[in-house]
Amino acid sequence: MKVGDRHYHTIWLNEDGRSVDIIDQRWLPHEFRIETVRTVDGIAVAIRDMWVRGAPLIGVTAAYGVAIAMLDDASDAAIDTVWEKLHETRPTAINLRWALDEMRAFLRPMPIADRAEAAYLRAAEIAEEDVQLNRNIGMNGLAIIKEIAARKKPGEVVNILTHCNAGWLATVDYGTATAPIYLATEEGIAVHVYVDETRPRNQGAQLTAWELNNHGVPHTLIVDNAGGHLMQHGMVDMVIVGTDRTTANGDVCNKIGTYLKALAAKDNNVPFYVALPSPTIDWTVKDGVKEIPIEERSGDEVTFVQGRAADGKIAVVRISPEGTNAANPAFDVTPARLITGLITERGVAKASPEGLKALFPERT
Ligand code: MRU
Repeated sequence: MKVGDRHYHTIWLNEDGRSVDIIDQRWLPHEFRIETVRTVDGIAVAIRDMWVRGAPLIGVTAAYGVAIAMLDDASDAAIDTVWEKLHETRPTAINLRWALDEMRAFLRPMPIADRAEAAYLRAAEIAEEDVQLNRNIGMNGLAIIKEIAARKKPGEVVNILTHCNAGWLATVDYGTATAPIYLATEEGIAVHVYVDETRPRNQGAQLTAWELNNHGVPHTLIVDNAGGHLMQHGMVDMVIVGTDRTTANGDVCNKIGTYLKALAAKDNNVPFYVALPSPTIDWTVKDGVKEIPIEERSGDEVTFVQGRAADGKIAVVRISPEGTNAANPAFDVTPARLITGLITERGVAKASPEGLKALFPERT
């Protein structure tokens, strides 16, 4: 998407043909910084410490990490080593394992001498596929927004609530939850987005608000606890969120707090949609609550917040008494029964085994 007058992806091959350039998301919205990552260790740090984040982008970054590893050693053992090293960086987003499995399955049958070059090409393909998947998600989600807009009186807008950042920054381009919103805006449909700030890391306040602002999408930032109140007062027409892992039964794991939004939506008859590309479906898992590993991050993310201080510098400040114990589960699971539909690249599925199988018959 555009930043200033340039079109950016979130990750691309550096002109040296070996390293990758990324948008370092730790500094947004205050500073737009590009970093060059040259090593597998650098890729692992960029994923773990969330220079890049969002399930699809984590996957693409890992694919490039495998390519970088192949430059030094393209043996089977080296493929397994980089697989393990990158897989342990973040445990919940299944796109990470999907991309690592893709790369391994693609490279294994090849002569060792051909693997490095082929790995870069496959990583670039995975990145390009992500863009295409998101475009298709956008078209399928747009149809839903159009239906809601058609029921509105002249002058009324479609109010959409979103949680965390499932925007273009979380993917290579377009985003998942934001793709229908961007397309609706391009078509001149009046949409307005309520952006949950998304504590503790504030991906909504820092990233989603930045994206929507850049693209001229009207939006209002709200604290995480405001959504239920807005829904009770008829101020939300639909919720769209992303997901880090969706089970074969349609349970959705996403940023902590998503579950509470889904409960509030159910109680107020507000449609609750999840936008996802098929690499986010974990066909091996049925019960999301019992089976999906939930990342526990440092309590420091709860007891400190980052922002821009009055002197213009980016500052990290403590918000609780020194020594306060903090728990920080990064994701939760929304059971399928609370979900109106899964917006995928192939269409909108019911959040059920049958719904997903109907769209992806090859997985049965
Ligand atoms: O911890 P993060 O910022 O990586 O979490 C991101 C999310 O929860 C997104 O909603 C999810 O990855 C889907 S991104 C299209």
